[in-house]
Amino acid sequence: MAEQATAEPAHAALVSSALALGEGAGVRVAAPELTVVVPCYNERANVRPLVRRLEAALSGLRWEVIFVDDASPDGTAAEALQLAASDQRIRCIRRIGRRGLSSAVIEGALASSASFIAVLDGDLQHDETRLPAMLALLSDGAADIAVGSRHAAGGDASGLGSAWRHWLSGLGIRAAQAFLPVRLSDPLSGFFMLSRPLFDRLAPHLTGVGFKILIEVLLAAGHNVRIVEVPFVFRPRTAGESKLDLLVSMQFAAVLIERLFRGLLPVRFLAFAAVGALGILVNLAALAILTKLIGLGFEWSQGLATLVAMLANFELNNRITYRDQRLVGRRVWQGRLVFVLVCSIGAIANVGIAGMLYHQHAGWSLAGTAGAAIGVVWNYAVSATLVWRAR
Ligand code: GDD
Ligand code: MN
Repeated sequence: MAEQATAEPAHAALVSSALALGEGAGVRVAAPELTVVVPCYNERANVRPLVRRLEAALSGLRWEVIFVDDASPDGTAAEALQLAASDQRIRCIRRIGRRGLSSAVIEGALASSASFIAVLDGDLQHDETRLPAMLALLSDGAADIAVGSRHAAGGDASGLGSAWRHWLSGLGIRAAQAFLPVRLSDPLSGFFMLSRPLFDRLAPHLTGVGFKILIEVLLAAGHNVRIVEVPFVFRPRTAGESKLDLLVSMQFAAVLIERLFRGLLPVRFLAFAAVGALGILVNLAALAILTKLIGLGFEWSQGLATLVAMLANFELNNRITYRDQRLVGRRVWQGRLVFVLVCSIGAIANVGIAGMLYHQHAGWSLAGTAGAAIGVVWNYAVSATLVWRAR
């Protein structure tokens, strides 16, 4: 409250001095040279310390920071907005009903009008004091992309914490190196800088899935970019917690697999089909329990077992396949209902088409496969638009 009371007259003074200069109600300020894009989810406690550190590290430069928050329940956005209210260098993009580090970075970078874009984690683990060195490499024309590296000479990855994280990171680095057109010591780094024109050129080729935005950028950039690694010490986290979990690692594998299929089969479809295959097992298990253990008649059992499988598939798809668009709260029930309806129609189509082919002497395996394939494509296509609506 006290802050608002003091902010008001200051603002009024700014407007009147602008009017006095004959510039209308707005004040013209040149775009910054550098935008620091900071994806953040539940990083409230880190917002202020990060801004203070950026101020110290970037003094003398025209810079801005764009926090990209996915409706963090801890009030990260409110914290950033409070700072932004009295400081033009601070901006905040808020996304609702979406999750994902890579897509957050892409949207933050697309909102920049600066000459250069840096990507920096919002948890103080990346070393912001390396930013001027990275900027110098780019503006001198020595590199097209500057990558903060924990594994180059002088860097350090001990802030990763557990032995498990070190192992996982090592595995990921080797997998990524096998796919990348350029050799890098730390291709999994989430800390890098590039020019905005270069980013704009690459942006249409980025999928935005998962955590590994740098990998995507490097894959899209191909051979014709000069990359320089800048060593840095990865600090341990002091507030909040890491969002990198098993599912995120699976998503990383998925991005590489999609690459292997050259985009012919979207990973989302593969995940959806895998969940569907698992659903058949759930269906059979439930059928066995209902007929053998509970002694229910076959038709009733199969009907109930199918429902159980559909509900299980919905849960898995909502948590894995559509993790980035996961339905929550009231919308889960709505989604469940629509999903069951869509899959029921899919099942009818499956049985109908298989039956038709079978009667045309197609052989039971071909008829069954065709019915199932049409069923899964239908379920996927329709639930993508009706259940997990692309927003
Ligand atoms: N907007 C948004 N949405 N931000 C997110 C999301 C999300 O869904 N998930 C994570 N973030 C933010 C975090 O708040 C943090 O600022 C940053 O992205 C990195 O997330 P962490 O959860 O701290 O990741 P990490 O420290 O485990 O992983 C880091 O090291 C990896 C290498 O081991 C990241 O820098 C990775 O990019 C890096 O590959
Ligand atoms: Mn982190």
